[in-house]
Amino acid sequence: MRHRYRCNFTFALVIIVVSSAYFSCHTEPKTIILRKAETKAAADVIVRKEVRSVAFGSCAQAEKPMPVLDVTIQQKPDLFVWLGDNVYGDTQEISTLQKAYQTLGNNPFFQRLDSATRLLATWDDHDYGWNDAGRHYPLKEASKEVFLDFWGDARDAPRRNREGIYTSYLFDGGKQDVHVILLDTRTFRDNLVRSQSIILEGSQSFTYMADYEPQRNPDSTLLGSDQWRWLKKQLAVEADFRIIASSTQFGIEWNGYESWANFPRQQEKMLRLLAEAERQKPTPTVFITGDVHYAEISKVSGLNGMDVYDITASGITSTWDFATRNGNRIAGPVMENNVGILHLGRPGMAKVSAEIWDASGQLRVEHSVLP
Ligand SMILES: [Fe+2]
Repeated sequence: MRHRYRCNFTFALVIIVVSSAYFSCHTEPKTIILRKAETKAAADVIVRKEVRSVAFGSCAQAEKPMPVLDVTIQQKPDLFVWLGDNVYGDTQEISTLQKAYQTLGNNPFFQRLDSATRLLATWDDHDYGWNDAGRHYPLKEASKEVFLDFWGDARDAPRRNREGIYTSYLFDGGKQDVHVILLDTRTFRDNLVRSQSIILEGSQSFTYMADYEPQRNPDSTLLGSDQWRWLKKQLAVEADFRIIASSTQFGIEWNGYESWANFPRQQEKMLRLLAEAERQKPTPTVFITGDVHYAEISKVSGLNGMDVYDITASGITSTWDFATRNGNRIAGPVMENNVGILHLGRPGMAKVSAEIWDASGQLRVEHSVLP
């Protein structure tokens, strides 16, 4: 997995040169062009590649066959975003994680996908290194090195030089600019609050015990202050489409398991930032998430009348017995192995549409997310 990176500095230089040439023969106000160049330069990695479709998935046991990846290849996505639990390497020994990644790298299904399209990745708990772990996981720095080496980050990639693995890419090689933000929901996350015997009902009348309750401490954080500051700048990057990738689900109703709903103030903060960004420059924005071992689409009401969509695709090999309650669900659940695909700016179609494909090649969900 060696990918091509170009740093912001190079990009900024190119923009300055191109802008200068442009000003000499065009009448578009300087300030507008300069502002666009400046905001683009805030993206961590700029890639000259046209992106019209983005596939995504999560929760892969490295030693297992992954036929849903072959289904994905047939759809010819321009990108594939690994949303976490990309391996199951739960451990207090870093060599266990390394071996899990080696196994994934040797998996022929993975290799075919890697040859077919560009891969991006963030992590969730099991590839971070421990079930439901947050900022206190003791191997987080070593785990980060293993992660970045496996996913082929350049030696000078911005996320190698700061804490955590959050990053962003701006694909500007075609008629539309696509901005992909990968969040890190592990490195900075405060401890979860254990639930005191709350019983909930899921699909098919399954009852289950909630693991966690929503945080009541107003200072508790999921992303941490550095990542929030960075994210605010990212939301000002001018693009035609924005995708925010989070390992855990953003837009679901609280269900007693891990999700943003355990940090209601952080969820509100995100909605506030999205509304501010929308006021500055409206940009079609959707979340893609994983983790739960089934697929669904959720819609949450944002501020200023915005609808915020969260498309969950999980798992590549994992399955679960039931889907939890989710009053925000508008499509799914799909309980079989699955991947998601977003189509961006398809002529004559919705601006953003989402699909969920299963491992037998069936299109299980097709939904216009943004008209
Ligand atoms: Fe997970």
